Amino acid sequence: MRRYASWLLLALLSPPLLAASPDGVVAVSHPAAAAAGARMLAAGGNAIDAAAAVQFALNVVEPQSSGIGGGGFMLIHLAKTGETFFVDSRERAPIAASPDMFSPGGQPMPFPLASTSGLAVGVPGTLRGIDTTLARWGTMTLADTLAPAIELAEHGFRVNRFLAADIANDGGRTLIHPETAAIFRPGGVALAEGDWLVQPDLARTFKRIAAQGPDAFYRGPLAEALVEAQRRTRSELGAAGAGRMALADLRGYQAAIRSPLYGRYRGWTLATMPPPSSGGITVLQMLGLLERFPVGDASHGYGFGSPKTLHVMIEAMRLGFADREMWSGDDDSVTVPQRALLHPGYVAMRAARIQPDRRMDTPLAGDLLPWDNKARGSQRMPRARQESPHTTHFSIIDRWGNVVSHTSTIEFTWGSGITVPGYGFLLNNELTDFNFVPASDPASGNPGANDVAPGKRPRSSMAPMLLLKDGRPVAAYGSPGGATIINSVFSVTLNLIDHGMSLQQAIDAPRLSVTHAAGKVDCEGGAPFMQPGFSIATQDALRTLGHPAPGEVGTNGCEEAIGSVQAVAIDLATGAQHGAADPRREGTVIRVSPTAAPGR
Ligand code: GLY
Repeated sequence: MRRYASWLLLALLSPPLLAASPDGVVAVSHPAAAAAGARMLAAGGNAIDAAAAVQFALNVVEPQSSGIGGGGFMLIHLAKTGETFFVDSRERAPIAASPDMFSPGGQPMPFPLASTSGLAVGVPGTLRGIDTTLARWGTMTLADTLAPAIELAEHGFRVNRFLAADIANDGGRTLIHPETAAIFRPGGVALAEGDWLVQPDLARTFKRIAAQGPDAFYRGPLAEALVEAQRRTRSELGAAGAGRMALADLRGYQAAIRSPLYGRYRGWTLATMPPPSSGGITVLQMLGLLERFPVGDASHGYGFGSPKTLHVMIEAMRLGFADREMWSGDDDSVTVPQRALLHPGYVAMRAARIQPDRRMDTPLAGDLLPWDNKARGSQRMPRARQESPHTTHFSIIDRWGNVVSHTSTIEFTWGSGITVPGYGFLLNNELTDFNFVPASDPASGNPGANDVAPGKRPRSSMAPMLLLKDGRPVAAYGSPGGATIINSVFSVTLNLIDHGMSLQQAIDAPRLSVTHAAGKVDCEGGAPFMQPGFSIATQDALRTLGHPAPGEVGTNGCEEAIGSVQAVAIDLATGAQHGAADPRREGTVIRVSPTAAPGR
């Protein structure tokens, strides 16, 4: 690794104290992983190098959310060429997968059983994605970027309160599979906040990858152990719950490089993730639905947190999620009518359904035929699905202005709960992001966009976002949270553009979320940083408009934490770089500054 002694890591700042920094900023949900990224920047690496180090370190210190057993979407903006693109390392269904594999005999498997069986494990993409990214746009080696993670796994770190809480409230996932229990519940006792966690198997795995490259994962003994591990099934499911991945699936895995989906909102440009994520399309559509409302104008009764603003946000979410359920999936396997879903005529027609004074009847997915003659409207009620509030997001900018914003996941908290024996990392349960019961119905026009198919990627909600003004990047952000990712990214965008908040205010502000056209409203409150909160009077006003808000009339039902947004921003006037991180987890911003320029 190249090192420049004259470059110092200046400060670990709490977000409200952030000052401008021209030399690189990382914003990550855990301080040790943030430090891993800052170490790469301080040693002369770029944002891509730093991102690799952060992702590997997160596998150690936030193992319940992401890692080499999972996948993700990495937004990259290259300062030199002005290009923006995504590295898609989404997990894929094995070639032996079939549309009805989660509903043998027509009955959907219970989610808790299916999601903790090998059948749920998608072919992991994280390592291939990072290796591809480093090889093309990085300046460091895989081994360089693995070094901090190896140290953390080998020597240990202190369990923070978020990891401790996820172990304590794991729904049994760290208990069911013995290798996972041995790490997180040694001797049957759950690790608590402050306990020291050493992961020797994971350290050895990372060392092998550092020495041999990604083939140490995608081929050979590790690949064999992984395939064997995903053959496990919960006894209640019998053989039907066994995973169908073969060595050839692992050998054949490649990351995809994708162009972003672009949108416009009130004069700003947004670049975000296209399919196989539903996240980008849905956020852009929801923003389009709100363009006719003066969301930022308190003199018209709008403004942050007013019942009027929250009402139109809820209605936009309900419309967006109705379309998402019907039309979004892996565009490499099915055609997603992206242009129609974002066509101004279609969006205006949908927006006209939003009434200022009452909740609309439950919307169905829209009929896209006038905008896409291959997309037949299907008047079916979307299904409610169980989606987890985990995953992770980090953002980085380097001294040259390269930006990375990466959402990464093993799906549910703890993924499948299966740790590959002897190798110390968790396997995802990403395939449960597919429809459990095939929805394809040629008679009604339902394309089954998210039905399981061999090699297909399950629909995601992840939506790393780049905000641009006059073609220049201004901010990059994203969030974990399953389907709520879409609403967190949407809310932060409104906070920045409509409410004129600073990056940190935009993250701190309380969020609300509806992830189903017929769904109830979840909202945040309680934590002191969530200011201004949603008052009891506001919650009652939403109920009066017809929204099934949480809690009883006259009480505060806003309790849930929604998402965890890490962001970086550039002041276009001064070039100053900023970061902001989310107090909902141990969000950490580190800025890296030179004491003397090393001649570059
Ligand atoms: N599994 C979370 C997502 O992809 O949206």
